[in-house]
Order: sequence, then structure tokens, then C-alpha cells
Amino acid sequence: MKSRILSDYSMMPKGEGRSRLVAIDVCDDGPGIDKEELDHLFTPFYTTKSKGTGLGLAICQKIIAEHRGMIRVDSEPGKGTAFTVMLPLVQ
Ligand SMILES: Nc1ncnc2c1ncn2[C@@H]1O[C@H](COP(=O)(O)OP(=O)(O)OP(=O)(O)O)[C@@H](O)[C@H]1O
Ligand SMILES: [Mg+2]
Repeated sequence: MKSRILSDYSMMPKGEGRSRLVAIDVCDDGPGIDKEELDHLFTPFYTTKSKGTGLGLAICQKIIAEHRGMIRVDSEPGKGTAFTVMLPLVQ
């Protein structure tokens, strides 16, 4: 796990709405996630586990959105996955 401060982050192409965020990366070297699966990750009840609820990531996304943050995923099948949580920085 790694955390960093993004001091001038903008989601918009022209750089409007810049803000300061704290970003937390959680990385693993597991099986990775293929492209089609990535589209469903945050959908409630989507799971590939025999006993999974499929609610873990949906709940994470909801809590993070309520804090005006975002969560993203970057994955390479066979190599691993990195989730990044970004939250507005309050200092
Ligand atoms: N780090 C990861 N590496 C590979 N696949 C993942 C990873 N995290 C999530 N997934 C995939 O996303 C699916 C949905 O994850 P989510 O956490 O929402 O539910 P779950 O883990 O299946 O169930 P539960 O949260 O009840 O344990 C998982 O079933 C798995 O297929
Ligand atoms: Mg889970």
C-alpha cells in the first residue's frame, strides 16, 4: 500500500476543477482481471467467488463517492491489480 498527495488533479480535459487529493494505491500480484470483467467490478452482486457476495467493491465505491472521492482499477491479467482510492485532501 502506498499513499501520495496529488496537488493539482483535474478530471476535465481543459484542467478546470483542479483539486488536491490524497491517493492510496493498493496493489497485488494476483491473477489480474480481464477487460470484460473490469466493466462489472463495481456492480452490486457481481462476483466470481463461490461464496462471495459481490458487494465488497460496490460498497467501497459508494462510501468513497459519499466522501466526494473516486476509486479506479488498473489490471493486467497474469500480472496483478492496482486499486487507487482518491479523496479530497483536507488540511
Ligand atoms: N484484486 C483483485 N484481483 C482479481 N480480481 C478481483 C480483485 N478484486 C476484485 N476482483 C474481482 O471482482 C469481483 C467483485 O469483487 P467484490 O469485492 O465486489 O466482491 P467479492 O470479493 O466477489 O465478494 P465479497 O466482497 O463478498 O468477498 C470478485 O469476485 C473478483 O472476481
Ligand atoms: Mg471482495
